Amino acid sequence: MDTMELVKAQEQEMIQMRRHIHQNPELSNQEFQTTKLIQEKLTEYGIEIADIGLKTGVVGVLKGRFPGKTLAIREDIDALPMKELTGLPFASASDGVCHSCGHDIHTTVLLYTAKILSALKDELHGNVMFLFQPAEENGSGAKQLIDCGFDQVLKPDAFVGLHVAPKLNAGCIGLKDGPASASSDMFQIRVTGKGGHGAHPENCVDPIIISAYILTQLQTIVSRENHPIHPAVLTVGSIHGGQANNVIPDYVEMGGTLRSLEPESRQAMQAAIDRITVSCAEAMRGKAEVSWNKGMPPLVNDTPIVNGIRAAAQKLLPAGAIKTIADPSLGSEDFSYLFPTYGPGAQFSLGCGNDSDPNTRHGLHNSKNVFDEGCLAVGTAVLVQYARDFLG
Ligand code: NI
Repeated sequence: MDTMELVKAQEQEMIQMRRHIHQNPELSNQEFQTTKLIQEKLTEYGIEIADIGLKTGVVGVLKGRFPGKTLAIREDIDALPMKELTGLPFASASDGVCHSCGHDIHTTVLLYTAKILSALKDELHGNVMFLFQPAEENGSGAKQLIDCGFDQVLKPDAFVGLHVAPKLNAGCIGLKDGPASASSDMFQIRVTGKGGHGAHPENCVDPIIISAYILTQLQTIVSRENHPIHPAVLTVGSIHGGQANNVIPDYVEMGGTLRSLEPESRQAMQAAIDRITVSCAEAMRGKAEVSWNKGMPPLVNDTPIVNGIRAAAQKLLPAGAIKTIADPSLGSEDFSYLFPTYGPGAQFSLGCGNDSDPNTRHGLHNSKNVFDEGCLAVGTAVLVQYARDFLG
Protein backbone atom coordinates (compact mmCIF):
# COMPACT_ATOMS: atom_id res chain seq x y z
CA MET A 1 0.00 0.00 0.00
CA ASP A 2 1.10 3.52 -0.77
CA THR A 3 3.04 5.09 2.10
CA MET A 4 1.31 8.48 1.97
CA GLU A 5 -2.13 6.79 2.15
CA LEU A 6 -1.03 4.82 5.21
CA VAL A 7 0.26 7.99 6.87
CA LYS A 8 -2.76 10.13 5.97
CA ALA A 9 -5.00 7.54 7.65
CA GLN A 10 -3.12 8.29 10.89
CA GLU A 11 -2.88 12.05 10.53
CA GLN A 12 -5.72 13.13 12.85
CA GLU A 13 -4.51 10.77 15.56
CA MET A 14 -0.98 12.09 15.12
CA ILE A 15 -2.12 15.67 15.60
CA GLN A 16 -3.90 14.70 18.85
CA MET A 17 -0.81 12.83 20.05
CA ARG A 18 1.48 15.75 19.21
CA ARG A 19 -0.79 18.18 21.10
CA HIS A 20 -0.82 15.91 24.14
CA ILE A 21 2.99 15.72 24.16
CA HIS A 22 3.23 19.45 23.51
CA GLN A 23 1.02 20.21 26.48
CA ASN A 24 3.09 17.96 28.77
CA PRO A 25 6.72 18.88 28.09
CA GLU A 26 9.54 17.55 30.25
CA LEU A 27 13.11 18.76 30.68
CA SER A 28 16.26 16.83 29.72
CA ASN A 29 16.72 13.68 31.81
CA GLN A 30 13.28 14.18 33.39
CA GLU A 31 11.23 12.79 30.51
CA PHE A 32 9.51 10.21 32.75
CA GLN A 33 5.89 10.63 31.58
CA THR A 34 6.97 10.94 27.95
CA THR A 35 9.01 7.74 28.32
CA LYS A 36 6.04 5.94 29.84
CA LEU A 37 3.78 7.10 27.02
CA ILE A 38 6.27 5.93 24.38
CA GLN A 39 6.65 2.53 26.06
CA GLU A 40 2.87 2.07 26.25
CA LYS A 41 2.33 3.06 22.64
CA LEU A 42 5.19 0.94 21.25
CA THR A 43 3.86 -2.07 23.15
CA GLU A 44 0.41 -1.39 21.74
CA TYR A 45 1.94 -1.24 18.23
CA GLY A 46 3.70 -4.59 18.68
CA ILE A 47 7.21 -3.17 18.99
CA GLU A 48 9.64 -4.87 21.36
CA ILE A 49 11.28 -2.61 23.97
CA ALA A 50 14.97 -3.26 24.60
CA ASP A 51 15.76 -2.74 28.28
CA ILE A 52 19.25 -1.27 28.21
CA GLY A 53 18.96 0.58 31.49
CA LEU A 54 18.11 4.07 30.26
CA LYS A 55 16.63 6.29 32.99
CA THR A 56 14.56 8.12 30.38
CA GLY A 57 14.21 7.50 26.65
CA VAL A 58 13.25 4.28 24.89
CA VAL A 59 14.85 1.88 22.42
CA GLY A 60 12.24 0.00 20.39
CA VAL A 61 13.03 -2.89 18.07
CA LEU A 62 11.01 -4.16 15.12
CA LYS A 63 12.16 -7.33 13.44
CA GLY A 64 10.98 -7.73 9.87
CA ARG A 65 9.72 -11.05 8.54
CA PHE A 66 12.97 -11.63 6.60
CA PRO A 67 16.56 -11.29 7.77
CA GLY A 68 18.55 -8.26 6.61
CA LYS A 69 20.15 -4.99 7.58
CA THR A 70 19.30 -2.83 10.57
CA LEU A 71 18.10 0.75 10.24
CA ALA A 72 18.18 3.00 13.32
CA ILE A 73 15.76 5.93 13.32
CA ARG A 74 16.56 8.43 16.05
CA GLU A 75 14.52 11.34 17.41
CA ASP A 76 14.80 13.41 20.58
CA ILE A 77 12.05 13.80 23.17
CA ASP A 78 13.03 16.57 25.64
CA ALA A 79 11.79 20.15 26.07
CA LEU A 80 13.43 23.43 27.10
CA PRO A 81 13.42 25.46 30.33
CA MET A 82 11.43 28.40 28.97
CA LYS A 83 7.92 29.77 29.21
CA GLU A 84 5.58 29.17 26.28
CA LEU A 85 3.99 32.34 24.91
CA THR A 86 2.05 31.01 21.90
CA GLY A 87 -1.39 31.29 23.50
CA LEU A 88 -2.37 28.00 21.83
CA PRO A 89 -5.21 26.01 23.46
CA PHE A 90 -2.78 23.11 23.92
CA ALA A 91 0.12 25.26 25.15
CA SER A 92 2.43 23.87 27.83
CA ALA A 93 0.69 23.04 31.09
CA SER A 94 4.05 22.93 32.82
CA ASP A 95 5.13 26.40 33.86
CA GLY A 96 8.59 27.33 32.56
CA VAL A 97 8.94 24.23 30.35
CA CYS A 98 8.14 24.30 26.66
CA HIS A 99 8.56 22.26 23.47
CA SER A 100 9.99 25.19 21.52
CA CYS A 101 12.49 23.02 19.62
CA GLY A 102 9.79 20.79 18.14
CA HIS A 103 10.85 17.60 19.90
CA ASP A 104 7.13 16.96 20.52
CA ILE A 105 6.81 16.70 16.74
CA HIS A 106 9.91 14.49 16.52
CA THR A 107 8.54 12.12 19.18
CA THR A 108 5.17 11.90 17.44
CA VAL A 109 6.72 11.30 14.02
CA LEU A 110 8.84 8.46 15.38
CA LEU A 111 5.90 6.88 17.22
CA TYR A 112 3.78 6.79 14.06
CA THR A 113 6.72 5.67 11.93
CA ALA A 114 6.97 2.73 14.35
CA LYS A 115 3.22 2.09 14.21
CA ILE A 116 3.07 2.07 10.42
CA LEU A 117 6.25 0.02 9.94
CA SER A 118 5.04 -2.52 12.48
CA ALA A 119 1.96 -3.08 10.32
CA LEU A 120 4.27 -3.56 7.32
CA LYS A 121 6.71 -5.94 9.00
CA ASP A 122 5.82 -8.84 6.67
CA GLU A 123 7.44 -6.95 3.81
CA LEU A 124 10.62 -5.91 5.65
CA HIS A 125 13.98 -7.59 5.10
CA GLY A 126 15.79 -6.64 8.27
CA ASN A 127 15.17 -4.65 11.42
CA VAL A 128 14.34 -1.17 12.56
CA MET A 129 15.56 0.32 15.82
CA PHE A 130 13.56 3.26 17.13
CA LEU A 131 15.82 5.43 19.26
CA PHE A 132 13.75 7.82 21.37
CA GLN A 133 16.66 9.78 22.72
CA PRO A 134 16.45 11.77 25.97
CA ALA A 135 18.33 14.95 26.83
CA GLU A 136 19.33 16.36 23.45
CA GLU A 137 19.13 19.93 24.71
CA ASN A 138 21.92 19.51 27.23
CA GLY A 139 23.98 17.40 24.85
CA SER A 140 24.04 14.29 27.07
CA GLY A 141 21.34 12.04 25.62
CA ALA A 142 23.14 10.43 22.69
CA LYS A 143 26.04 9.63 25.02
CA GLN A 144 23.58 7.91 27.37
CA LEU A 145 22.46 5.66 24.50
CA ILE A 146 26.11 4.84 23.87
CA ASP A 147 26.94 4.28 27.55
CA CYS A 148 23.94 1.95 27.89
CA GLY A 149 25.13 -0.03 24.86
CA PHE A 150 22.31 0.60 22.37
CA ASP A 151 24.54 -1.01 19.71
CA GLN A 152 24.60 -4.27 21.68
CA VAL A 153 20.88 -4.69 20.99
CA LEU A 154 21.46 -4.62 17.22
CA LYS A 155 24.24 -3.09 15.22
CA PRO A 156 22.80 -0.38 12.94
CA ASP A 157 23.87 -0.31 9.29
CA ALA A 158 22.49 3.19 8.92
CA PHE A 159 21.03 6.02 10.98
CA VAL A 160 18.35 8.46 9.87
CA GLY A 161 16.41 11.19 11.59
CA LEU A 162 14.93 14.62 11.09
CA HIS A 163 14.72 18.00 12.77
CA VAL A 164 11.97 20.57 12.26
CA ALA A 165 12.96 23.74 10.39
CA PRO A 166 10.70 26.84 10.68
CA LYS A 167 12.39 28.54 7.69
CA LEU A 168 11.09 25.81 5.36
CA ASN A 169 7.40 25.52 4.59
CA ALA A 170 5.41 22.59 5.92
CA GLY A 171 5.18 20.12 3.06
CA CYS A 172 8.87 20.53 2.25
CA ILE A 173 12.01 18.80 3.42
CA GLY A 174 15.61 20.04 3.24
CA LEU A 175 18.65 17.89 2.48
CA LYS A 176 22.25 18.76 3.24
CA ASP A 177 25.03 16.55 1.99
CA GLY A 178 28.27 16.43 4.01
CA PRO A 179 28.89 18.68 7.05
CA ALA A 180 25.54 19.94 8.33
CA SER A 181 26.14 21.26 11.84
CA ALA A 182 29.13 22.11 13.97
CA SER A 183 31.06 20.69 16.86
CA SER A 184 30.30 22.46 20.11
CA ASP A 185 32.79 23.01 22.93
CA MET A 186 32.27 25.15 26.01
CA PHE A 187 35.10 26.81 27.92
CA GLN A 188 35.39 28.74 31.17
CA ILE A 189 38.27 31.10 31.84
CA ARG A 190 39.28 32.27 35.29
CA VAL A 191 41.71 35.17 35.37
CA THR A 192 43.35 35.74 38.72
CA GLY A 193 45.07 38.99 39.65
CA LYS A 194 45.59 40.77 42.93
CA GLY A 195 42.79 42.97 44.20
CA GLY A 196 43.01 46.25 46.00
CA HIS A 197 42.05 49.93 46.01
CA GLY A 198 41.08 51.38 42.65
CA ALA A 199 43.31 54.40 43.37
CA HIS A 200 46.42 52.22 43.79
CA PRO A 201 46.90 50.02 40.71
CA GLU A 202 50.63 49.91 41.50
CA ASN A 203 49.82 47.58 44.42
CA CYS A 204 47.50 45.36 42.38
CA VAL A 205 47.33 43.05 39.36
CA ASP A 206 44.12 44.03 37.62
CA PRO A 207 42.23 40.97 36.27
CA ILE A 208 39.69 43.19 34.49
CA ILE A 209 42.23 44.73 32.15
CA ILE A 210 43.88 41.32 31.64
CA SER A 211 40.48 39.87 30.71
CA ALA A 212 39.91 42.70 28.26
CA TYR A 213 43.18 41.82 26.50
CA ILE A 214 42.41 38.11 26.52
CA LEU A 215 38.96 38.76 25.07
CA THR A 216 40.45 40.87 22.29
CA GLN A 217 43.29 38.43 21.57
CA LEU A 218 40.83 35.53 21.33
CA GLN A 219 39.25 37.30 18.36
CA THR A 220 42.45 36.71 16.39
CA ILE A 221 41.98 32.93 16.49
CA VAL A 222 39.19 32.82 13.91
CA SER A 223 40.46 35.85 11.95
CA ARG A 224 44.25 35.15 11.93
CA GLU A 225 44.90 31.50 12.81
CA ASN A 226 42.02 29.47 11.42
CA HIS A 227 42.01 28.63 7.71
CA PRO A 228 39.58 31.11 6.11
CA ILE A 229 37.71 28.40 4.21
CA HIS A 230 36.98 26.42 7.41
CA PRO A 231 33.91 27.90 9.08
CA ALA A 232 34.34 28.57 12.80
CA VAL A 233 32.80 30.67 15.55
CA LEU A 234 34.25 31.72 18.86
CA THR A 235 31.77 33.52 21.11
CA VAL A 236 32.46 34.71 24.64
CA GLY A 237 28.95 34.92 26.04
CA SER A 238 29.59 35.77 29.67
CA ILE A 239 32.06 37.89 31.60
CA HIS A 240 31.82 38.64 35.30
CA GLY A 241 34.17 40.45 37.61
CA GLY A 242 34.19 43.15 40.24
CA GLN A 243 31.55 44.74 42.44
CA ALA A 244 32.50 48.37 43.04
CA ASN A 245 33.72 51.24 40.86
CA ASN A 246 36.74 51.89 43.05
CA VAL A 247 37.86 48.34 43.83
CA ILE A 248 40.17 46.20 41.70
CA PRO A 249 38.79 42.65 42.06
CA ASP A 250 40.81 39.49 42.69
CA TYR A 251 39.48 37.60 39.72
CA VAL A 252 37.29 37.66 36.59
CA GLU A 253 35.41 34.78 35.00
CA MET A 254 34.50 34.43 31.33
CA GLY A 255 32.64 31.71 29.48
CA GLY A 256 32.39 30.96 25.79
CA THR A 257 31.66 28.48 23.05
CA LEU A 258 33.75 27.26 20.12
CA ARG A 259 32.10 25.90 16.96
CA SER A 260 33.75 24.25 14.00
CA LEU A 261 33.01 21.90 11.10
CA GLU A 262 36.50 20.38 10.86
CA PRO A 263 38.14 18.18 13.50
CA GLU A 264 41.61 19.60 12.76
CA SER A 265 40.58 23.26 13.01
CA ARG A 266 38.68 22.42 16.13
CA GLN A 267 41.75 21.00 17.85
CA ALA A 268 43.99 23.83 16.70
CA MET A 269 41.54 26.44 17.96
CA GLN A 270 41.15 24.70 21.32
CA ALA A 271 44.94 24.80 21.71
CA ALA A 272 45.03 28.47 20.65
CA ILE A 273 42.46 29.42 23.30
CA ASP A 274 44.61 27.73 25.96
CA ARG A 275 47.85 29.30 24.69
CA ILE A 276 46.56 32.86 24.27
CA THR A 277 44.67 32.91 27.55
CA VAL A 278 47.50 31.59 29.70
CA SER A 279 50.32 33.57 28.07
CA CYS A 280 48.39 36.83 27.85
CA ALA A 281 47.68 36.68 31.58
CA GLU A 282 51.30 35.80 32.34
CA ALA A 283 52.57 38.69 30.25
CA MET A 284 50.51 41.00 32.44
CA ARG A 285 51.63 39.45 35.79
CA GLY A 286 48.37 37.57 36.29
CA LYS A 287 47.32 33.95 35.98
CA ALA A 288 44.61 32.36 33.89
CA GLU A 289 43.14 28.89 33.70
CA VAL A 290 40.92 27.45 30.99
CA SER A 291 38.57 24.61 31.79
CA TRP A 292 36.82 22.77 28.99
CA ASN A 293 33.61 20.93 28.45
CA LYS A 294 34.38 19.43 25.06
CA GLY A 295 31.10 18.52 23.46
CA MET A 296 29.68 16.95 20.37
CA PRO A 297 31.56 16.46 17.08
CA PRO A 298 30.29 18.00 13.82
CA LEU A 299 27.31 16.32 12.15
CA VAL A 300 28.42 15.00 8.76
CA ASN A 301 25.71 13.53 6.55
CA ASP A 302 26.53 10.47 4.45
CA THR A 303 26.03 10.98 0.70
CA PRO A 304 24.40 7.60 -0.15
CA ILE A 305 21.94 8.00 2.75
CA VAL A 306 21.12 11.59 1.75
CA ASN A 307 20.48 10.29 -1.78
CA GLY A 308 18.30 7.53 -0.35
CA ILE A 309 16.20 10.05 1.58
CA ARG A 310 15.86 12.14 -1.58
CA ALA A 311 14.73 9.10 -3.57
CA ALA A 312 12.19 8.19 -0.87
CA ALA A 313 10.86 11.77 -0.76
CA GLN A 314 10.54 11.87 -4.57
CA LYS A 315 7.99 9.06 -4.31
CA LEU A 316 5.88 11.16 -1.93
CA LEU A 317 6.31 14.87 -2.55
CA PRO A 318 6.27 17.22 -5.56
CA ALA A 319 9.77 17.95 -6.89
CA GLY A 320 9.66 21.55 -5.64
CA ALA A 321 9.12 20.37 -2.08
CA ILE A 322 12.53 18.70 -1.86
CA LYS A 323 15.04 21.45 -1.12
CA THR A 324 18.79 21.24 -1.18
CA ILE A 325 20.37 23.09 1.73
CA ALA A 326 23.57 24.73 0.51
CA ASP A 327 25.14 25.92 3.74
CA PRO A 328 25.91 24.09 6.97
CA SER A 329 24.86 25.57 10.29
CA LEU A 330 27.26 26.43 13.10
CA GLY A 331 24.59 25.24 15.50
CA SER A 332 25.08 21.75 16.89
CA GLU A 333 23.16 18.50 17.19
CA ASP A 334 24.13 15.58 19.41
CA PHE A 335 22.99 12.99 16.84
CA SER A 336 26.64 13.40 15.74
CA TYR A 337 27.76 11.17 18.63
CA LEU A 338 25.95 8.27 16.92
CA PHE A 339 27.04 8.66 13.32
CA PRO A 340 29.48 8.14 11.69
CA THR A 341 31.07 6.46 14.77
CA TYR A 342 28.40 3.70 14.93
CA GLY A 343 27.59 3.59 11.21
CA PRO A 344 26.81 6.09 8.46
CA GLY A 345 23.83 8.38 8.86
CA ALA A 346 21.96 11.47 7.80
CA GLN A 347 19.55 13.92 9.33
CA PHE A 348 17.19 15.96 7.18
CA SER A 349 15.22 19.15 7.82
CA LEU A 350 11.44 19.02 8.06
CA GLY A 351 9.67 22.23 7.04
CA CYS A 352 7.22 23.44 9.69
CA GLY A 353 6.60 27.08 8.72
CA ASN A 354 4.06 28.73 6.44
CA ASP A 355 3.57 32.11 4.79
CA SER A 356 0.12 32.80 6.24
CA ASP A 357 1.08 32.65 9.93
CA PRO A 358 4.13 34.76 10.86
CA ASN A 359 4.19 32.99 14.24
CA THR A 360 5.53 29.90 12.45
CA ARG A 361 8.71 31.82 11.56
CA HIS A 362 10.03 32.94 14.96
CA GLY A 363 12.52 30.10 14.94
CA LEU A 364 13.54 27.29 17.24
CA HIS A 365 13.99 27.95 20.97
CA ASN A 366 11.62 30.90 20.65
CA SER A 367 8.75 30.86 23.15
CA LYS A 368 6.29 32.24 20.57
CA ASN A 369 7.04 29.83 17.74
CA VAL A 370 4.06 27.92 16.36
CA PHE A 371 4.72 24.74 14.36
CA ASP A 372 2.61 23.94 11.29
CA GLU A 373 1.23 20.47 12.01
CA GLY A 374 1.19 19.67 8.29
CA CYS A 375 4.79 18.60 8.86
CA LEU A 376 3.76 15.53 10.88
CA ALA A 377 2.51 13.50 7.93
CA VAL A 378 5.40 14.55 5.68
CA GLY A 379 8.12 13.63 8.19
CA THR A 380 6.49 10.30 8.99
CA ALA A 381 5.97 9.44 5.32
CA VAL A 382 9.60 10.15 4.40
CA LEU A 383 10.93 8.02 7.28
CA VAL A 384 8.52 5.15 6.55
CA GLN A 385 9.32 5.24 2.83
CA TYR A 386 13.08 5.36 3.50
CA ALA A 387 12.78 2.33 5.80
CA ARG A 388 10.69 0.43 3.20
CA ASP A 389 13.28 1.19 0.52
CA PHE A 390 16.27 0.41 2.76
CA LEU A 391 14.79 -2.90 3.93
CA GLY A 392 12.94 -3.72 0.71
NI1 NI B 1 16.14 20.35 18.68
